[in-house]
Amino acid sequence: MDVIGKTAVVTGGGRGIGRGISLALARNGADIIVADIIVGNAEGVAEEVRALGRRSLALRLDVASRQSVEAMTAQALSEFGAIDILVNNAGVIGAQGWERRETPNEEDWNLIFEINIRGVARVTDAVAGHMKERRYGKIVNIASIAGRRGSNRNPPYNASKAGVINLTQSQAQMLAPYNINVNAICPGLLWTPMWERIAARGTMTPNPEGKTRRELFVEYVEEGTPLGREQTPDDIGNLAAFLASEYARNITGQSINVDGGLNMN
Ligand SMILES: NC(=O)c1ccc[n+]([C@@H]2O[C@H](COP(=O)([O-])OP(=O)(O)OC[C@H]3O[C@@H](n4cnc5c(N)ncnc54)[C@H](O)[C@@H]3O)[C@@H](O)[C@H]2O)c1
Repeated sequence: MDVIGKTAVVTGGGRGIGRGISLALARNGADIIVADIIVGNAEGVAEEVRALGRRSLALRLDVASRQSVEAMTAQALSEFGAIDILVNNAGVIGAQGWERRETPNEEDWNLIFEINIRGVARVTDAVAGHMKERRYGKIVNIASIAGRRGSNRNPPYNASKAGVINLTQSQAQMLAPYNINVNAICPGLLWTPMWERIAARGTMTPNPEGKTRRELFVEYVEEGTPLGREQTPDDIGNLAAFLASEYARNITGQSINVDGGLNMN
């Protein structure tokens, strides 16, 4: 998966899946702009990328703000000269206090859509102009298995991720004439700070033996997943690196599950 000498922007790259994607791209030879609303975390990951021998820059980014997106894009271009790869990974499960609400409220709906959908469109619009000029680009959107099928747990999140799958198809068609590939990854179940929030909301099975949330998560995954194991940020990063490479030059508009066989489509 050769992305040697390419420059990648990874949104939400400061922890969890975004960190895994940043490090996988770096291991495969790319320089990384780690862009996150928590810039301290982004700096930590940029340090890890540099330890792998690649260039890296941490930038503060709020995908909900056009001004912030434009500032990040301009700074990335001025420091690295080009953006070859964009990974739209930043996402949220709910607004503050979501864990304690039985039903997502107006704030949850607004924040989830602003970041998970509008954020993907906003960053892509900002970066695609530059990619179009160079007639080269690889864009990877992070959707979710939640976008494959609705559930009673978090309608706004599920709908936002279904939207990312659909948006990926539109972007792929709009950008294909410029030799820009756009694909999505649908991660399955990964124990990241996002899943810690889901577990805190009490969606787990009853817990008479007093197991930790982490232990319950592992049981839940092992019982419900054909391959019987949780997915990792590396798993998602490895597919992102493949989709960002020339091995995937004729793949566009696709959404690929990395979920241990939970969905088969
Ligand atoms: N963890 C899972 O099981 C799972 C499964 C499927 C899909 N996903 C998706 O993968 C992506 C990463 O999830 P994660 O589990 O690593 O979550 P996470 O909460 O650990 O990480 C999300 C990152 O995005 C950043 N972020 C949040 N709002 C932002 C904003 N407005 N601007 C810029 N950065 C922002 C956060 O600071 C954080 O670094 C999300 O899009 C999520 O929906 C996660």
